[in-house]
Amino acid sequence: MEKKVLFTIFGGTGDLAQRKLYPSLFRLYKKGDLKEDFAVIGTARRPWSDDHYREVVMGTIEDLIESKEQAETFASHFYYQSHDVTDTTHYDSLKELADSLDQKYQLEGNQLFYLAMSPNFFGTIVSHLKSQGMLETEGYHRVVIEKPFGSDYASAKQLNEEINQVFSEQEIYRIDHYLGKEMIQNISAIRFANNIFESQWNNRYIDNVQINIAEDLGVEERGGYYDKSGALKDMVQNHILQILSLLAMEPPVAFSEKELRTEKIKALNAIRIYSEEEVKTNFVRGQYAHGQLEDQQFAGYREEMNVAEDSATETFVAGKFLIDNFRWSGVPFYVRTGKRLTEKGTRINIVFKQVPVNVFKKDVTDCESKKKLAPNVLTIYIQPTEGFSLSLNGKEIGQGFDTLPVKLDYRNSTEIVENTPEAYEKLLLDALNGDGTNFTHWDEVAQSWRIVDVIRHAWDKETPDFPNYSAGTMGPKAAYDLLAADGFEWIWKPDEWYRERN
Ligand code: BG6
Repeated sequence: MEKKVLFTIFGGTGDLAQRKLYPSLFRLYKKGDLKEDFAVIGTARRPWSDDHYREVVMGTIEDLIESKEQAETFASHFYYQSHDVTDTTHYDSLKELADSLDQKYQLEGNQLFYLAMSPNFFGTIVSHLKSQGMLETEGYHRVVIEKPFGSDYASAKQLNEEINQVFSEQEIYRIDHYLGKEMIQNISAIRFANNIFESQWNNRYIDNVQINIAEDLGVEERGGYYDKSGALKDMVQNHILQILSLLAMEPPVAFSEKELRTEKIKALNAIRIYSEEEVKTNFVRGQYAHGQLEDQQFAGYREEMNVAEDSATETFVAGKFLIDNFRWSGVPFYVRTGKRLTEKGTRINIVFKQVPVNVFKKDVTDCESKKKLAPNVLTIYIQPTEGFSLSLNGKEIGQGFDTLPVKLDYRNSTEIVENTPEAYEKLLLDALNGDGTNFTHWDEVAQSWRIVDVIRHAWDKETPDFPNYSAGTMGPKAAYDLLAADGFEWIWKPDEWYRERN
C-alpha cells in the first residue's frame, strides 16, 4: 500500500544517507511503496540548495534508474534545509517547511524522523522536535535511530530516557541493519519451520556455535569514529549479540513483534556476565598491523587516517559466550569479528556433537579408531553469498567402507538475490508500516551493553600488546587458542592457505 509520509533526515549530506538511505527510498519508489505522496527534508550544517541536494540524491541512484526523467521526478520530492541541531530557531523554519510540504503533498501529518548523525545530538534533536511543535501534526510520528545507541549502559540509559520524554517505545525504531538482512531473517525460518533442526537445537546435540563477521576492509574514512569505538562496541554489542539472540531464543508462541522480543530478551538475559578475571580467558582482542594479501599491501591500523599513532583500540574481537539456561548450558557460542581479515564473510556454524560411538572401525578391539568422523555442521551464509548448507558423513563410493564428509548445499540464486530488497529498504518499509519486529527494543540494547561493559572495563585496565595480527589474516593466534583450549576449532578457515604458506 502506498505510503503518505514526510521524511526528515538529520545527517542528510552524510555517508549513510547517500550510500544507503537514498537508494533504498528510490527502490521503494520504484516498487510503488512510495508514490507521489511523499517528501524528504534533508538537513545538515552545510549550506546546500535544493537543486544541489537533488543532484546529490540523483548521483546516489544512478545505477538504479530507468530514465533521467524518473530520477528527476523522484528527486523533486527532496528539499534541503541547512540546520544547526542545537539552535531552536532552526526548528521553527524546519517546521514551516514541513507544514508546507504536508499541505503540498497531502501527507496527512505523518512524519518519520531519521537520525543519521553523531549520537551526541540525538537527545537534543528529539527534545527540540517537541519543544518547537514539530510533533503536533495529526498523523503518526516515528523516529528511526542509527547506532551507536549510547557508548555504554549508562549513556544508553540516559539517551533512552531523553528520547522517551518525547517518543513512546512504539514510536522508536532503533536500527540494526543486520536485522534487515535476508539470511538473518532466515534464521527463524531455518529453526522454526524445520523439525529436523529445532528438535536438535539444544545442548544434547549441539557442541558449539560459531558466529563470524569478517571484513576485508580496514576502517577507511571512519578512523575518527572507530578509534573511539573499537570492534567490541561497533560490532559485538549490536550485530553479534542480535544474531546470538536469534540463534539462542526459545521458539516464540507467534511470529509477532511482541512475542519475538520477549524471547530475544530472555535469551540475552541468560548470557553469563563474566567477572573481569573471566574476561581474560574468554575474550581475545586484536589490532591489525601492516600486512600483505596476495599482491596487495595494507597499512597497519595505527597508520590509518584519524587514528592515534599509539592507539589501543581493538579492530578484532574473538570470544566465548555462555548461556545459562536449560537449553544451552555448557554450549559455547564463539564469536569472531574484525577488520582487514582475509575476506569478507558473515557466516554462522552450528556444530553438532559426534555420534555416541564411531562404529566404523575394523574390529571391536580397536578402541582408538583413527577414523574420527567429521562433525555435522549447519552453516548459514549471511553474506556475501546467501544460503545454508549441512555437512554430513556419507560412504565413499567403491569397495570397502570409508566415510567422507558430504554437503547438502542451498544458495539463493543470483536471480533471487538481485531482486532481494536491501536491508535498509526492508527496514525503512517496516518503519513505514509501523512494524518494529526487526528493530531493537530498549531492553535488548540495555542488556547488550551490560554484557559488553564488563568486557570493556576489564580490557581498559591493561594496555594491550598491539598490533598483534597482520592485515589479511584471520586475527591473532590467541583467537585459535581460545577454541583449541576447549578441544574445538574454527570451522571457517579462509586463511588456511595463508597460514600454511607462512
Ligand atoms: C556497521 C559498522 O554497523 O556495520 C561498520 O559500524 C561495519 O564498521 C558494518 O563495517 C558492516 O556491515 P555490513 O553490512 O557491510 O556487514
